[in-house]
Parts: sequence; structure tokens; C-alpha cells
Amino acid sequence: MKTNASDNQWSGKLGFVMAAAGSAIGLGNIWKFPYMVGTNGGAVFFSVYIVFLFVLGIPVLMAEMAIGRYAGMNAVDSCGRISEKWKFAGWFGIIGAFTILSYYSVVGGWVIKYILHYIVNGRISDPSAYFAGFSSQTAEPIILHLIFLFICAAIVMGGISSGIEKVSKILLPLLFILLIVMAGVSLSLPNASEGIRYFLVPDFSDVENIGAICLNAMGQVFFSLSLGMGTLITYGSYLPKDSRIISSAGSIVALDSLAAVLSAFVVLPAVFSFGMTPEAGPGLLFQTLPVVFDKISLGRIAAVMFFVLVLLAAVTSAISLMEVVVAFMAERFKMKRSDAVIVLSLILGGVGALSSMSLGVLSDFTIFGMGFFDFLSFLSDKIIMPLGGFFICILVGYVWGIPAAANEISNGGKLKFRSRKLFAAVVRYIAPALILFIFVSALV
Ligand code: PHE
Repeated sequence: MKTNASDNQWSGKLGFVMAAAGSAIGLGNIWKFPYMVGTNGGAVFFSVYIVFLFVLGIPVLMAEMAIGRYAGMNAVDSCGRISEKWKFAGWFGIIGAFTILSYYSVVGGWVIKYILHYIVNGRISDPSAYFAGFSSQTAEPIILHLIFLFICAAIVMGGISSGIEKVSKILLPLLFILLIVMAGVSLSLPNASEGIRYFLVPDFSDVENIGAICLNAMGQVFFSLSLGMGTLITYGSYLPKDSRIISSAGSIVALDSLAAVLSAFVVLPAVFSFGMTPEAGPGLLFQTLPVVFDKISLGRIAAVMFFVLVLLAAVTSAISLMEVVVAFMAERFKMKRSDAVIVLSLILGGVGALSSMSLGVLSDFTIFGMGFFDFLSFLSDKIIMPLGGFFICILVGYVWGIPAAANEISNGGKLKFRSRKLFAAVVRYIAPALILFIFVSALV
């Protein structure tokens, strides 16, 4: 039972697509995608990414949405509605969403720090030292992490159509405008074409480890589309029965890919233009780009715009993670939405603080040789997400069965489902096999 009966559905297709695209477009696009391209051989990675987007991304997205709309409940109970024994598949979503959010909001806090710094102080002259110095402090990053959580909590408290949907409908267009403006700035830099060539023209002769590239591309498709985390089940549960799953999935994937490509257009030309390499990995956003902002004219304004853009993207993703857990708590424990949000935020505040401190005072404390922050990100990206996705495929492909799932996707046969055979092949065989393969090789 929904706690707030007046606000348990999207107002319409557009509202859902905007919210789901808001979930998909996040740090994964702006921060991870360009550095993944940079560390995985440029255009070769991008080519593989596109293949996986169609082969894995769209069908799994549809499978999750179908479960959610069919059952109309949080991730655990939606899976349970299909088969009582399969509730555990939904648990991956609850635990995974919680885990991601606990460090995602720490990164969100860093983004707020950069915005404030550029507004107040202007430039960052030694970005690597600045980043290391700031992220290893205790109090300030924790306070900013809590501010980020507070923003998300305030939105989620507003409910589905008047909270999450309303905010996504405003922030998503704003995000695209900023992305386009920033891509324009970046493309006008000297030698920008080098970055574009690196991104778009594959050089297969230069590929050393195609296996690793494939693994990373698959992981990126999952992360970027918010799959395997119960997000699309939860958001799907607020869909009206006559909504169109196939075309919505297409729109979400198109918007997410556009955002990824635009982000690469922002980041890569800028980096190449100043003779730097995009191989910096996770530091690209916080350490390499500030070097660029320090050199270009109007760099301060560009920097503020850029980090505001990153913040908007991070917020619309974080609220989807929060909603997965809030929906579960509210329905399972019959809590008021607002109470669930408060309890969850308090717990997340604590866990996030620990992961923030693991980059500073608590850096000696390790789990399997990783600091707490790195451990959480390893756990969610490499373990919970692939396993969650794997079990969703098995649940839909074998337990619920393709006829029942196809019936939901086609609205009881009212809509054409031309790719049904492909969907069946992906959900039953291709996706589980590929995911298992990523999973095992990531562990080895
Ligand atoms: N897709 C989001 C991003 O690209 C991250 C995310 C993953 C959000 C899983 C929700 C669920 O940043």
C-alpha cells in the first residue's frame, strides 16, 4: 500500500521519462564516461559501448520497468509478487542503492565544494594538491556530503509527481542546455579536433586488451542506465497501466547516450587542447579539468557552470537511489514517506561520513585491502549491480516467463512488440551469460 495515496503515480509519460532519464544521467555520464573512454582506448571503447547499449541495456531496462509496472510495489515486493521465493532479487536493489548513495553523496559534496570555491575564490592553481588536501579533511567534506543528502531528501519527501517528477522536469532541460553550452566552449578551444578524433575514430591496431575494454563497457552500460539496482522497478511501479514501456525505454536510452556523448565533447577536447591526457581516471573531473579552467579565458564562469551541471546531474540520480530505499521502507514498515526519508538520511549521513573519512583520518582502516570508500564502490559496481541484473534476467526470462513479460510490455497485446524474439534471447541467454562473465573476471 502506498502511504500517500494522492501522489503515487507519474503525471504522464513525459514525467516518467524525465525522471528515469534524470536517474540515468548522472556522475556516470559526466565523470565516469569520459575517463572510461580515456582509459580504455578512446573510440574503440565507445564502439563497444554502443553495441552493449542495444544488446544489454534496452532489454534489461524494459524487463525492470515491466516488473515494476506489473507489480506496482517496491523492488523487493515487486519481485515477490512474481515469485515469493525471488524477493531476494529485489534485495540487491535496496542494498545496492543504499551502498551507491552512501558514497555518491560524498562525491556530490565535493562538487558543491568546487562550485563554492570557484564562486568565492576564483581559480585553483594546483588542482591535484587542492583535491588531495580537501578530500582528506574531516569536517568540511562531511558537512558538504550532508548538505547534498539534505537537498535530495527534501525532493524525495515531496513525493512522486510533485517531488521527483517536478524537479526532474526542471533540472533535466537545464542540464542539457548547460551541456550544450559547455560543449560549444570546449569545441572552440585550439586543437579541439584532436579530442574528437580520439573519441570518434577507432584505432583497432592500438588495442591491447579488448577483453578488459568489453568488461568496462558492460559495467558502464549498467551503471549509466541505473540497471540492476531496483531503480527502474521502483520508478516503473508508479507508471499508469496504459503507459508504453518500449518507447519509454528507447527515449531514456537516447537521452542518456546523448548526455554521455555531450559530456565527452565537453571533457575530451578541453583536455587534449592543453596537451594533457584523458587517462587520469577518476581524477579527471576534479584534477585535470580545473587545469583547463585555469588556462582558458572566462575560466571561472565556465568552471561554475560546469560544476553546477555536474551537481544537477548528481542530484537527479541520487534521488532515484533514495526513492528505491524509501519506497521499500514506507511500504514494508508502513512508515510515512517523510519518516522514511528522515530515518534513511540519518543512516546514510553516518555511512557516508565514514566513507569520506576513509580518504583521510580513517585511511589506515581497510577491507580486503581497500579503503571504505573504494570498498563501497567496488561492492556496488562490481558485485551487487551485476548480480542484481543477472537475477532480474533470470526472474523475467525463466520464472515469470517471456509470454507473461511480453504481455506486460505490449499492454496485453494492444501494442506491437516487434523485438520480442531479441528480447527473449537477451533476457534468457545473452545478458545472463555476459553478466556472469563480467562478474567472474572482475573477481579474478
Ligand atoms: N545512472 C547513474 C549515473 O550515471 C548512477 C545510478 C546507478 C543511479 C544506479 C541509480 C541507480 O550516475
